[in-house]
Amino acid sequence: MTQIPPIPDDGARDALMAQARAAAARAYAPYSKFHVGAALLMGDGSVVTGANVENASYGLSLCAETVAVAKILSGAQGAAGGAGQLVAVAVTGGVAGAPGQGMTVTPCGRCRQMLNEVAQLGGTDPVVWSDGADGILEERLSTLIPHAFGPANLA
Ligand code: THU
Repeated sequence: MTQIPPIPDDGARDALMAQARAAAARAYAPYSKFHVGAALLMGDGSVVTGANVENASYGLSLCAETVAVAKILSGAQGAAGGAGQLVAVAVTGGVAGAPGQGMTVTPCGRCRQMLNEVAQLGGTDPVVWSDGADGILEERLSTLIPHAFGPANLA
């Protein structure tokens, strides 16, 4: 059964978004000049951040969310079964030094799939906060990627 973790309060949301914005400042995005940051809140209260990492071979570039997922699944907590519960995700992006001041930045399709891996391993449907000039959009991951294919399909 998938758990629907309660939505953290506005203070927790703003704190997580602040960590995403700080992560965006560490992006390596010399080609697009679009700096993205992601912050993933786990059930034990820990936060894992990521920033986009581009490459001179453009198509090899890694998104911020994917970098954060790679950190979680390769981290000390271990992979399958030990990844922990993904409670919330904050994503922001924009030109250097001004994240969240343009169009709302939601996770790209590939990143939704990457986030689903952690979510499904831990059995949660996390809330996803997407930053933008119009405010913070709030959605469940399952709304962004309905009927997702995941580790459960291979069990
Ligand atoms: N990007 C992300 O990091 N996450 C997303 O969800 C959307 C796109 C990055 C990829 C690339 O480095 C830059 O933003 C412009 O597409």
